[in-house]
Amino acid sequence: MAIYDTLGTTYGRTRQPDPRIADQIHAALGNAADVINVGAGTGSYEPPQTLLAVEPSQVMLAQRPPGSAPAVCAVAERLPLRDDAADAVMALLTVHHWSDLEAGITELRRVARRRIVVLTWDQQIFRERFWLVREYLPQAAAFDDTRAVPTDRLARLLGGARQVPVHIPHDCVDGFGAAFWRRPDAYLDPRVRSGISMLAQTGEDVLAPGLAALAEDLATGRWHHRHADLLALGSLDVGYRLLVTDS
Ligand SMILES: C[S@@+](CC[C@H](N)C(=O)[O-])C[C@H]1O[C@@H](n2cnc3c(N)ncnc32)[C@H](O)[C@@H]1O
Repeated sequence: MAIYDTLGTTYGRTRQPDPRIADQIHAALGNAADVINVGAGTGSYEPPQTLLAVEPSQVMLAQRPPGSAPAVCAVAERLPLRDDAADAVMALLTVHHWSDLEAGITELRRVARRRIVVLTWDQQIFRERFWLVREYLPQAAAFDDTRAVPTDRLARLLGGARQVPVHIPHDCVDGFGAAFWRRPDAYLDPRVRSGISMLAQTGEDVLAPGLAALAEDLATGRWHHRHADLLALGSLDVGYRLLVTDS
Protein backbone atom coordinates (compact mmCIF):
# COMPACT_ATOMS: atom_id res chain seq x y z
CA MET A 1 0.00 0.00 0.00
CA ALA A 2 1.37 3.44 -0.93
CA ILE A 3 1.90 5.80 2.01
CA TYR A 4 -0.50 8.37 0.53
CA ASP A 5 -3.28 5.77 0.49
CA THR A 6 -3.39 6.64 4.22
CA LEU A 7 -2.03 10.20 4.28
CA GLY A 8 -3.89 11.44 1.25
CA THR A 9 -7.54 10.80 2.02
CA THR A 10 -8.39 14.50 2.44
CA TYR A 11 -5.55 15.93 0.31
CA GLY A 12 -7.76 17.66 -2.24
CA ARG A 13 -9.55 19.64 0.49
CA THR A 14 -6.54 21.59 1.76
CA ARG A 15 -3.99 21.12 -1.03
CA GLN A 16 -4.98 23.13 -4.06
CA PRO A 17 -2.35 24.71 -6.32
CA ASP A 18 -1.37 28.27 -5.47
CA PRO A 19 -1.46 30.42 -8.64
CA ARG A 20 1.70 32.39 -7.80
CA ILE A 21 3.71 29.23 -7.16
CA ALA A 22 2.19 27.72 -10.31
CA ASP A 23 3.50 30.70 -12.33
CA GLN A 24 6.99 30.12 -10.95
CA ILE A 25 6.92 26.38 -11.70
CA HIS A 26 5.58 26.93 -15.20
CA ALA A 27 8.26 29.55 -15.88
CA ALA A 28 10.89 27.04 -14.72
CA LEU A 29 9.53 24.49 -17.21
CA GLY A 30 10.34 27.00 -19.95
CA ASN A 31 8.99 26.22 -23.39
CA ALA A 32 8.76 22.45 -22.84
CA ALA A 33 6.33 21.04 -25.37
CA ASP A 34 5.43 18.12 -23.12
CA VAL A 35 5.84 17.42 -19.41
CA ILE A 36 5.77 14.34 -17.19
CA ASN A 37 4.71 14.88 -13.58
CA VAL A 38 6.30 12.38 -11.19
CA GLY A 39 4.81 12.01 -7.71
CA ALA A 40 1.90 13.86 -9.23
CA GLY A 41 -0.63 13.38 -6.45
CA THR A 42 -3.93 14.97 -7.32
CA GLY A 43 -2.40 16.92 -10.22
CA SER A 44 -1.55 20.26 -8.63
CA TYR A 45 0.58 22.54 -10.81
CA GLU A 46 0.30 20.38 -13.93
CA PRO A 47 0.58 22.61 -17.00
CA PRO A 48 -1.78 22.05 -19.94
CA GLN A 49 0.98 20.29 -21.90
CA THR A 50 1.25 17.48 -19.34
CA LEU A 51 1.69 14.21 -21.19
CA LEU A 52 1.49 11.84 -18.24
CA ALA A 53 1.23 11.89 -14.46
CA VAL A 54 3.02 9.19 -12.47
CA GLU A 55 1.67 8.51 -8.97
CA PRO A 56 1.80 5.39 -6.74
CA SER A 57 -1.27 6.09 -4.56
CA GLN A 58 -4.70 5.06 -5.80
CA VAL A 59 -6.24 7.39 -3.21
CA MET A 60 -4.40 10.32 -4.77
CA LEU A 61 -5.16 9.21 -8.32
CA ALA A 62 -8.86 9.06 -7.45
CA GLN A 63 -8.78 12.75 -6.47
CA ARG A 64 -7.46 13.97 -9.82
CA PRO A 65 -10.04 16.38 -11.25
CA PRO A 66 -11.98 15.30 -14.33
CA GLY A 67 -10.13 16.31 -17.47
CA SER A 68 -6.68 15.92 -15.89
CA ALA A 69 -3.80 14.50 -17.91
CA PRO A 70 -3.62 10.70 -18.18
CA ALA A 71 -2.08 9.07 -15.13
CA VAL A 72 -0.32 5.82 -14.38
CA CYS A 73 0.14 4.09 -11.02
CA ALA A 74 3.91 3.74 -10.64
CA VAL A 75 6.89 4.93 -8.58
CA ALA A 76 9.68 7.33 -9.51
CA GLU A 77 12.25 4.58 -8.98
CA ARG A 78 10.84 2.60 -11.94
CA LEU A 79 9.20 4.89 -14.45
CA PRO A 80 7.22 2.98 -17.07
CA LEU A 81 8.54 5.26 -19.80
CA ARG A 82 11.09 5.12 -22.58
CA ASP A 83 14.29 7.16 -22.54
CA ASP A 84 13.81 10.83 -23.52
CA ALA A 85 10.04 10.47 -23.23
CA ALA A 86 9.26 14.18 -22.78
CA ASP A 87 10.90 17.60 -22.99
CA ALA A 88 10.55 18.15 -19.26
CA VAL A 89 9.92 16.21 -16.06
CA MET A 90 8.72 17.77 -12.83
CA ALA A 91 8.62 16.32 -9.32
CA LEU A 92 6.96 18.58 -6.76
CA LEU A 93 7.10 18.10 -2.99
CA THR A 94 7.66 14.40 -3.47
CA VAL A 95 11.36 13.41 -3.41
CA HIS A 96 11.38 13.19 0.42
CA HIS A 97 8.88 10.33 0.18
CA TRP A 98 10.86 8.17 -2.23
CA SER A 99 12.34 4.93 -0.92
CA ASP A 100 15.39 5.20 -3.20
CA LEU A 101 16.21 8.81 -4.04
CA GLU A 102 19.17 8.02 -6.30
CA ALA A 103 17.19 5.54 -8.36
CA GLY A 104 14.34 8.04 -8.72
CA ILE A 105 16.60 10.89 -9.83
CA THR A 106 18.36 8.58 -12.29
CA GLU A 107 14.94 7.81 -13.74
CA LEU A 108 14.02 11.50 -14.04
CA ARG A 109 17.26 12.10 -15.94
CA ARG A 110 16.60 9.13 -18.19
CA VAL A 111 13.13 10.23 -19.30
CA ALA A 112 13.71 14.01 -19.50
CA ARG A 113 14.92 15.21 -22.88
CA ARG A 114 15.76 18.74 -21.81
CA ARG A 115 14.71 19.92 -18.36
CA ILE A 116 13.99 18.71 -14.85
CA VAL A 117 12.19 20.82 -12.24
CA VAL A 118 12.06 19.65 -8.62
CA LEU A 119 10.28 21.46 -5.78
CA THR A 120 11.62 20.69 -2.32
CA TRP A 121 12.82 22.53 0.76
CA ASP A 122 16.06 23.28 2.57
CA GLN A 123 15.59 21.76 6.00
CA GLN A 124 18.24 23.94 7.66
CA ILE A 125 16.56 27.16 6.53
CA PHE A 126 13.13 25.73 7.34
CA ARG A 127 14.21 24.89 10.90
CA GLU A 128 15.70 28.35 11.45
CA ARG A 129 12.98 30.49 9.87
CA PHE A 130 9.72 28.68 10.51
CA TRP A 131 8.44 29.58 13.97
CA LEU A 132 6.07 26.57 14.17
CA VAL A 133 8.81 23.95 14.21
CA ARG A 134 11.35 26.18 15.96
CA GLU A 135 9.16 27.20 18.89
CA TYR A 136 6.30 24.76 19.19
CA LEU A 137 6.78 21.49 17.29
CA PRO A 138 10.49 20.56 17.34
CA GLN A 139 9.42 16.90 17.11
CA ALA A 140 8.01 17.58 13.66
CA ALA A 141 11.32 19.16 12.64
CA ALA A 142 13.14 16.10 14.01
CA PHE A 143 10.89 13.87 11.92
CA ASP A 144 11.64 15.94 8.83
CA ASP A 145 15.38 15.68 9.58
CA THR A 146 15.05 11.96 8.84
CA ARG A 147 13.68 12.42 5.33
CA ALA A 148 14.46 15.93 4.04
CA VAL A 149 16.84 15.82 1.09
CA PRO A 150 19.70 18.34 1.33
CA THR A 151 19.31 20.59 -1.69
CA ASP A 152 23.02 20.45 -2.52
CA ARG A 153 22.89 16.65 -2.62
CA LEU A 154 19.83 16.80 -4.84
CA ALA A 155 21.55 19.29 -7.15
CA ARG A 156 24.56 16.98 -7.40
CA LEU A 157 22.37 13.96 -8.21
CA LEU A 158 20.68 16.03 -10.90
CA GLY A 159 24.09 16.64 -12.46
CA GLY A 160 24.08 20.29 -11.34
CA ALA A 161 21.00 22.44 -10.85
CA ARG A 162 20.23 26.05 -10.06
CA GLN A 163 18.34 26.58 -6.85
CA VAL A 164 15.58 29.16 -7.01
CA PRO A 165 13.89 30.32 -3.79
CA VAL A 166 10.10 29.98 -3.72
CA HIS A 167 8.73 32.65 -1.41
CA ILE A 168 5.48 31.63 0.23
CA PRO A 169 2.67 34.19 -0.02
CA HIS A 170 0.91 35.04 3.26
CA ASP A 171 -2.36 33.74 1.85
CA CYS A 172 -0.91 30.67 0.11
CA VAL A 173 -3.72 28.54 -1.31
CA ASP A 174 -1.78 25.26 -1.11
CA GLY A 175 -1.82 24.10 2.51
CA PHE A 176 1.65 22.53 2.73
CA GLY A 177 3.95 22.68 5.79
CA ALA A 178 4.72 26.39 6.07
CA ALA A 179 1.80 27.72 3.99
CA PHE A 180 0.13 29.19 7.08
CA TRP A 181 3.18 31.04 8.41
CA ARG A 182 1.07 34.24 8.84
CA ARG A 183 -2.16 32.41 9.77
CA PRO A 184 -1.09 30.54 12.92
CA ASP A 185 -4.63 29.51 13.95
CA ALA A 186 -4.75 27.22 10.94
CA TYR A 187 -2.33 24.78 12.58
CA LEU A 188 -4.88 24.17 15.34
CA ASP A 189 -7.27 22.72 12.73
CA PRO A 190 -6.89 18.91 12.44
CA ARG A 191 -8.06 19.06 8.84
CA VAL A 192 -5.16 21.39 7.96
CA ARG A 193 -2.71 19.17 9.86
CA SER A 194 -3.90 16.05 8.04
CA GLY A 195 -2.85 17.63 4.72
CA ILE A 196 0.72 18.23 5.96
CA SER A 197 2.73 15.00 6.04
CA MET A 198 5.33 16.41 8.47
CA LEU A 199 2.53 16.82 11.04
CA ALA A 200 0.39 13.81 10.10
CA GLN A 201 3.38 11.46 10.30
CA THR A 202 4.74 12.90 13.55
CA GLY A 203 1.42 12.00 15.19
CA GLU A 204 -1.21 13.87 17.19
CA ASP A 205 -0.06 12.61 20.60
CA VAL A 206 3.44 13.91 20.05
CA LEU A 207 2.19 17.25 18.72
CA ALA A 208 -0.40 17.82 21.47
CA PRO A 209 1.77 19.74 24.01
CA GLY A 210 3.17 22.08 21.33
CA LEU A 211 -0.26 22.71 19.87
CA ALA A 212 -1.62 23.48 23.34
CA ALA A 213 1.19 26.00 23.85
CA LEU A 214 0.40 27.58 20.48
CA ALA A 215 -3.31 27.79 21.35
CA GLU A 216 -2.46 29.52 24.60
CA ASP A 217 -0.06 31.98 22.96
CA LEU A 218 -2.72 32.84 20.39
CA ALA A 219 -5.37 33.32 23.07
CA THR A 220 -3.14 35.60 25.18
CA GLY A 221 -1.78 37.54 22.20
CA ARG A 222 1.77 36.39 22.98
CA TRP A 223 2.24 34.90 19.50
CA HIS A 224 1.20 38.15 17.81
CA HIS A 225 3.43 40.19 20.07
CA ARG A 226 6.43 37.93 19.43
CA HIS A 227 5.85 37.73 15.67
CA ALA A 228 4.70 41.27 14.91
CA ASP A 229 7.41 41.49 12.24
CA LEU A 230 5.82 38.63 10.27
CA LEU A 231 2.42 40.29 10.20
CA ALA A 232 3.86 43.09 8.07
CA LEU A 233 5.26 40.74 5.40
CA GLY A 234 3.49 39.70 2.21
CA SER A 235 5.64 36.65 1.55
CA LEU A 236 8.41 34.74 3.29
CA ASP A 237 11.38 32.62 2.30
CA VAL A 238 11.01 29.61 4.59
CA GLY A 239 13.41 27.44 2.60
CA TYR A 240 11.31 26.11 -0.29
CA ARG A 241 13.46 25.73 -3.39
CA LEU A 242 12.95 24.93 -7.04
CA LEU A 243 15.84 22.96 -8.47
CA VAL A 244 16.08 23.43 -12.21
CA THR A 245 18.44 21.57 -14.47
CA ASP A 246 18.99 21.09 -18.19
CA SER A 247 20.06 17.72 -19.48
C1 LIG B 1 3.02 15.93 -0.86
S1 LIG B 1 2.41 14.94 -2.19
C2 LIG B 1 2.75 16.01 -3.58
C3 LIG B 1 1.82 15.76 -4.72
C4 LIG B 1 1.90 16.77 -5.86
N1 LIG B 1 3.19 16.70 -6.53
C5 LIG B 1 1.64 18.15 -5.35
O1 LIG B 1 2.54 19.01 -5.46
O2 LIG B 1 0.53 18.39 -4.84
C6 LIG B 1 3.67 13.71 -2.39
C7 LIG B 1 3.33 12.68 -3.44
O3 LIG B 1 4.46 11.84 -3.69
C8 LIG B 1 3.97 10.54 -3.94
N2 LIG B 1 5.03 9.53 -3.76
C9 LIG B 1 5.41 8.90 -2.64
N3 LIG B 1 6.39 8.00 -2.90
C10 LIG B 1 6.63 8.07 -4.23
C11 LIG B 1 7.53 7.40 -5.12
N4 LIG B 1 8.39 6.49 -4.67
N5 LIG B 1 7.48 7.72 -6.42
C12 LIG B 1 6.63 8.67 -6.88
N6 LIG B 1 5.76 9.33 -6.09
C13 LIG B 1 5.76 9.05 -4.78
C14 LIG B 1 2.84 10.39 -2.95
O4 LIG B 1 1.99 9.30 -3.24
C15 LIG B 1 2.18 11.75 -3.04
O5 LIG B 1 1.17 11.79 -4.00
